[in-house]
Amino acid sequence: MNKSKRAAVIAGNWKMNKTRAEAKALIEELLPLVKDADCSVVVCTPYLDLETAVNATSGSNVKVGAQNCHWAPGGAFTGEIPASMIKEVGAEYVIIGHSERRQYFGETDETVNERTRAALDEGLTVILCCGELLNEREQGIMEEVVGKQLKVALGGVSEEELKNIIIAYEPVWAIGTGVTATADQAEEACAFIRALIAKLYSAEAAEAITIQYGGSMNAKNAAELLSKENVDGGLIGGASLKAPDFAAIVAAASV
Ligand code: 13P
Repeated sequence: MNKSKRAAVIAGNWKMNKTRAEAKALIEELLPLVKDADCSVVVCTPYLDLETAVNATSGSNVKVGAQNCHWAPGGAFTGEIPASMIKEVGAEYVIIGHSERRQYFGETDETVNERTRAALDEGLTVILCCGELLNEREQGIMEEVVGKQLKVALGGVSEEELKNIIIAYEPVWAIGTGVTATADQAEEACAFIRALIAKLYSAEAAEAITIQYGGSMNAKNAAELLSKENVDGGLIGGASLKAPDFAAIVAAASV
């Protein structure tokens, strides 16, 4: 495996935070701090901030993503947003299958698969989330849980389409808790995921795919996590809401 062949991607998941005015201010503060980044930088904003974020990042090295999309192209799905509308405002990425959507909004591996399909068909890059609960880790079934999540999510996704997928390993027990997986735990899970991709697709596909770690990644612990062979980036929640903190993580991925 050769980490230098892969694109490092640092993505902020703002979750349900930032008004449009706040989004504009945060991006304006962020842009000069990350302009020389030697990695991809993405901000995934609430739907209503997308257009503001696309305008504010125009001409810069920062890309914009949404945090979910519906699987249907349109129709009677009150409150939902299809991939085509995300694409239309100029966003290029979409997070799919975040654990908060699984926990609070009934997301299943099957709907994650359907949303992934819809996003790929629309030409969006998918940040596909997976990760085990605390009790699943304690039971020693991380690999079974993550393996099933990914096998189902990637059903019907071709090796060519896989080039538009980033996998984010986010152990649920580390999200928003301040408890980070150790660098070795993150590496172990990301290496498992890479081996699974080799089995499902090919050694080349496994070598090329970007795998992020997410869960209480911050300015202090990012460098150690990102130094691991199979950790190619980060999906950042809380620390992405402050420009200097997020920029420090981008800097750690740029060395
Ligand atoms: P925190 O960085 O706040 O733990 O959130 C991680 C996350 O869920 C990113 O998607």
